[in-house]
Amino acid sequence: MSAFPQNHWYVAAWSHEVGRSLLARTICNEPVVFYRTAAGEPVALADRCVHRRYPLSLGKLVEDEVECGYHGFKFDCAGACTFVPGQDRIPRTARVPRYSLVERHSWIWIWIGDQEPDLSAVPDAHWLDDPAWGAVRDLTYSPFRHSLLMDNLMDLSHETYLHAGLIGTPEIARTPFTTTVDEENHLVRFSRHMSAVECPPFYAKSTGFKSPIDRWQDVYFEPPSFWVNNVRVAPHGVEPGPNGDDSGAAHVKILHGLTPETEHSTWDFWAVVRDFALDDDSVGDFLLAMNQDVVQQDLDALTVLEQVVATEPPGTQELSVAIDAGGLAARDMMRRLLS
Ligand code: FES
Ligand SMILES: [Fe+2]
Repeated sequence: MSAFPQNHWYVAAWSHEVGRSLLARTICNEPVVFYRTAAGEPVALADRCVHRRYPLSLGKLVEDEVECGYHGFKFDCAGACTFVPGQDRIPRTARVPRYSLVERHSWIWIWIGDQEPDLSAVPDAHWLDDPAWGAVRDLTYSPFRHSLLMDNLMDLSHETYLHAGLIGTPEIARTPFTTTVDEENHLVRFSRHMSAVECPPFYAKSTGFKSPIDRWQDVYFEPPSFWVNNVRVAPHGVEPGPNGDDSGAAHVKILHGLTPETEHSTWDFWAVVRDFALDDDSVGDFLLAMNQDVVQQDLDALTVLEQVVATEPPGTQELSVAIDAGGLAARDMMRRLLS
């Protein structure tokens, strides 16, 4: 059994990472080589030559074909071998697996699994290139297992302690939240609405709001690979209008594409999008730098935790409490996807 849910879309790359050179990236333990055809289509092939298993990513792109760097076999963008040195006949089995990709809103999603790709199941991340939103983005290579990142994102009470001074304030850990499991849409949601609380530097500097503020975190996770935190911050008492108008508030969405690399490492594609100060690049620069600091704090903590978990005997007990409701629901859904 695979260590990762199969027949799902995972974020494989930012669009700008895939171009006219070969990019090697392991996704769910599968070595993949990415490139873009001259016409601009992204391509993903298994990164192993059928001949002697040399990584194709160490070869070169010749027009739209990959030439193996060892003995020169060539493969087209469907994975079919088109050239074998020293003979005219191309063996029928000379073919490398090709992966299905969807490029949408500046993410390239890859389908991992044997079934037909389900195009209707690509998670919606349109805010990444919607002109109504301003996006800043990054990719953080995370040397720890997917489940540690998932636990981290599904319990934001840790912001109070791990991210104090950036995005964390005392009220987060103190404020009760609700968790719901949406079986129909395969989502886990949690929601925490804080009233008249301190405005952390992350939002004070970007929005200009002063404490006290009302701060909402409405999170959903589409296991295994997509997480969104819908944040609303407003001066205390400013409510959304009856027609849905909420122009007195600032809205931020924090997006994560969580893609396992191996059992012990994860690609974390993340973005911060906002619906305010769209023409002020300094606000985007600030949010990017601030979130890089936040992600680094998680990275430092989870890198330590990976070492702990990896070296403890299997079955070592944890203790779960109320703040773990979201994480436990997400683990449960992941277990079902795996079984
Ligand atoms: S290993 Fe690729 S051509 Fe020999
Ligand atoms: Fe965090």
